[in-house]
Amino acid sequence: MHVIGGTASTALAERISRELGNAPFAIPFTKRFPDGEMYVRVGGRLEGEDVVIVQSTRTDQDLVELLLLEEAVREAGAKRVFVVVPYFGYARQDRRFFPGEPVSARAFCRHVELDADAVITVDLHSPQTLSHFSKPAYEASGIPAIARLLRERPVDLLVSPDRGGIERVRRMAQILDKPWFAFEKKRLDSEHVELSLPADLDLPIQGKHAVIVDDVISTGGTIVEAAKLLKKQQVGAISAACTHGLFLRDAFERIKAVADEVFSTDTLGNPAEKASVAPDIAQILVRASGT
Ligand code: R5P
Repeated sequence: MHVIGGTASTALAERISRELGNAPFAIPFTKRFPDGEMYVRVGGRLEGEDVVIVQSTRTDQDLVELLLLEEAVREAGAKRVFVVVPYFGYARQDRRFFPGEPVSARAFCRHVELDADAVITVDLHSPQTLSHFSKPAYEASGIPAIARLLRERPVDLLVSPDRGGIERVRRMAQILDKPWFAFEKKRLDSEHVELSLPADLDLPIQGKHAVIVDDVISTGGTIVEAAKLLKKQQVGAISAACTHGLFLRDAFERIKAVADEVFSTDTLGNPAEKASVAPDIAQILVRASGT
């Protein structure tokens, strides 16, 4: 199995290749034409080989690079192509909220799978997105990676910032054998949310070390509000953990001002990257390829 690391996911791709027993790893050559179009070239002998392409699609350019890499490895004669998209961009528009809108997640599932034999991603905004793929598609979870890290910390309780994250926090709580609860969240606009404690909360939280667990930290609005509310309840320490750390604009600094520790997995490169999903992705690759 050969592993190719796209520009957006070079470090994670290398970690995956190590997890696959030091599978041959390559970084493609990329450049821009004068008109701004992208050029890619993959090296190595890929004819008849299973090839893994790793590329998060945080930006539209990342997506274009991924499509070109898929075409390039097919042209190079790859036997099977496994496309790993650790952070699947556009996944949050997973339905039509208003008439005239696209289901963006579905549009990109269709395009990403075109030259793939299988697609692997991590913590999609909604797991139903997997059903938009017509080829085998797998979703790794960031939870085991974060749990591996939390085992080394004195954690007392886990908190989901909204009810949509209940399954996530419940799974984490089960692994770590800790209590959990979920805030009630109302989104006011794309940057502001209103949170409240659940009416039936019967956990002692004063003086405890609480870890807020989310799938994505984007503007940081959700985590900042959750941390402020926990502080009001006089919790002892607050950590914020997520799978995908986008940390737009000054999100990281704003969260650091209200939380004692912030960390994410390595699906996107960022200053909070402390847990790796490489072992979890490698495990799925082994299963999917039957090797
Ligand atoms: C929402 O459903 C997600 O799980 C996250 O809570 C949300 O995307 C975080 O966004 P932000 O950091 O902008 O509040």
